[in-house]
Amino acid sequence: MTQLKSPLAWLGGKSLLANQIIERIPAHTAYCEVFAGAAWVLFKKPESKVEIINDINRELVTLYRCVKHHLPALVEQFRWMLIARDEFDRFLNTPADTLTDIQRAARFYYLSKNAFGARVRGPTFGIAATGAPRLNLLRMEEDLSEAHLRLSRVFIENRPYQDIITRFDKPGTFFYVDPPYWDCENDYGKGLFSKDDFTALAEQLGGIKGKFILSLNDRPQVREIFKGFRIESVKTRYSVGSVRSKPVGEVLIRNFK
Ligand SMILES: C[S@@+](CC[C@H](N)C(=O)[O-])C[C@H]1O[C@@H](n2cnc3c(N)ncnc32)[C@H](O)[C@@H]1O
Repeated sequence: MTQLKSPLAWLGGKSLLANQIIERIPAHTAYCEVFAGAAWVLFKKPESKVEIINDINRELVTLYRCVKHHLPALVEQFRWMLIARDEFDRFLNTPADTLTDIQRAARFYYLSKNAFGARVRGPTFGIAATGAPRLNLLRMEEDLSEAHLRLSRVFIENRPYQDIITRFDKPGTFFYVDPPYWDCENDYGKGLFSKDDFTALAEQLGGIKGKFILSLNDRPQVREIFKGFRIESVKTRYSVGSVRSKPVGEVLIRNFK
């Protein structure tokens, strides 16, 4: 089966780890991605009966909602658009709350696709003599149309992780949990996630009826906090810009065999 790709570029996106996660997902009725970001696992995996993606980032969630409900109007925003530093700066300097949801989604999509290293906080225009731009304006409609079809039956939420786990926990629910990495808590915005949240997450996941897989960077503190669960080491790679870095160690933590 051909696997879809996420239409987004997003720091911490699991494009390279997704297949290792997908092959470990147990039978379930509802699939819930608690920290969705670019939702690489959702886009690559086969469809589940019920699917929910959630992220606290309002801009990201507005983009998903516009791809799902207003695709032609969103694509129209890019007619005559160019990939240019001036355009990037114009979007960056336009406050999101002065825009409609569709303009807001277009702004977010343009900025995230053209930011160096898919950086979320303090993005800068990504340009290099070694690679073409990540945003291919000629393929955009096709890429977003695939995402539109995939999202057509997916519930999209914009809540803190605790609420989502509580709201959707059932014996038949599988949660994929991909929080910010240890020591990178502020990468997606200051105050959204803290070191204390790792402990809170471990406590909350310890009491659920459903099953989960949680992915994190392999650190002694992570192993200590989640020691009550099954912890498996896996290898993946991080890449920033067009440079693919060395393999790094991650852990997949779960509450089932
Ligand atoms: C490591 S990224 C997820 C990457 C994703 N798995 C992918 O493939 O792109 C972590 C995500 O958690 C979100 N986030 C941070 N704090 C959160 C919170 N308190 N509740 C819900 N989402 C949060 C961030 O906005 C970010 O998109």
